[in-house]
Amino acid sequence: MLDFGISGRKALICASSRGLGYGCAEALAKCGARLVLNARDEEKLRIAGDSLRRKTGAQIECIAADITTEEGRNAVLEKAGSADILVNNAGGPPKGHFKDWKRDDWIRAIDQNMLTSIEMIKAVIDSMVMNKFGRIVNITSGSVKSPIPELGLSNGARSGLTGFVAGIAREYAQYNVTINNLLPGQFNTARIENLIESRAKEEGIAPQKLRATLERENPSRRLGEIAEFGFACAWICSAHSGYLVGQNILLDGGVFNSTH
Ligand SMILES: NC(=O)c1ccc[n+]([C@@H]2O[C@H](COP(=O)([O-])OP(=O)(O)OC[C@H]3O[C@@H](n4cnc5c(N)ncnc54)[C@H](OP(=O)(O)O)[C@@H]3O)[C@@H](O)[C@H]2O)c1
Repeated sequence: MLDFGISGRKALICASSRGLGYGCAEALAKCGARLVLNARDEEKLRIAGDSLRRKTGAQIECIAADITTEEGRNAVLEKAGSADILVNNAGGPPKGHFKDWKRDDWIRAIDQNMLTSIEMIKAVIDSMVMNKFGRIVNITSGSVKSPIPELGLSNGARSGLTGFVAGIAREYAQYNVTINNLLPGQFNTARIENLIESRAKEEGIAPQKLRATLERENPSRRLGEIAEFGFACAWICSAHSGYLVGQNILLDGGVFNSTH
């Protein structure tokens, strides 16, 4: 049997009461990690924690807080500042047109999808170095490789994080502390459902029709499932993945076609 070697490790998964964060939490719990879950809605977070406990028997703490605020991060870090594994995640910015975005829109997006992850990395990395073990995974987006025009705020903010990570990941590899990015294409989550609904409305078609088109256009003929995203996260966080450094791993069913 393959052992990922992270049983008993403490894993902090930000923004994890549903969707991709939840998928990562479930996979890490199945590897025996102790979890700290986070999201803003306390009740939904509690339900997510209970469900994971039932499914996996994992030891789980829940901290309801807005991870994009300093206060929220401090609350989370008070419980999980010494995490061995950190999964950075938050909501995505709204779509729109760049001519409509004001400075405040950009600052919000950069705070949410770039600076929050950088602050979290800054907070946990010294203890990871001391312990000679650390795995940091940033959930970014396939849009980093193949930008989506109407998601310009996301393209911009996440590219900033990607550049930053590429710079520092090499510095920490010698301590068995790795920092990598996991790039989702289209996965079956609440966020993609909302995006499908709003695009379908704009195009005057039924959401099911748009979904069927997206599935047909994907080489895998379907959208991704959070469990497969979680599995990739657990692989990156495995004790055996210390040689995987500063990478951008794309999971999109094969949509993006490139040899690089
Ligand atoms: N799904 C996709 O296909 C896809 C593709 C590309 C990129 N992404 C990106 O991947 C990330 C996760 O997407 P998803 O589809 O899993 O979204 P989702 O299903 O909407 O789930 C988002 C999770 O994050 C929590 N959350 C949101 N904002 C938060 C905050 N400020 N502080 C703490 N928790 C917060 C939510 O709970 P609360 O609302 O209770 O806080 C929820 O648990 C997003 O940044 C998204 O843009 C997703």
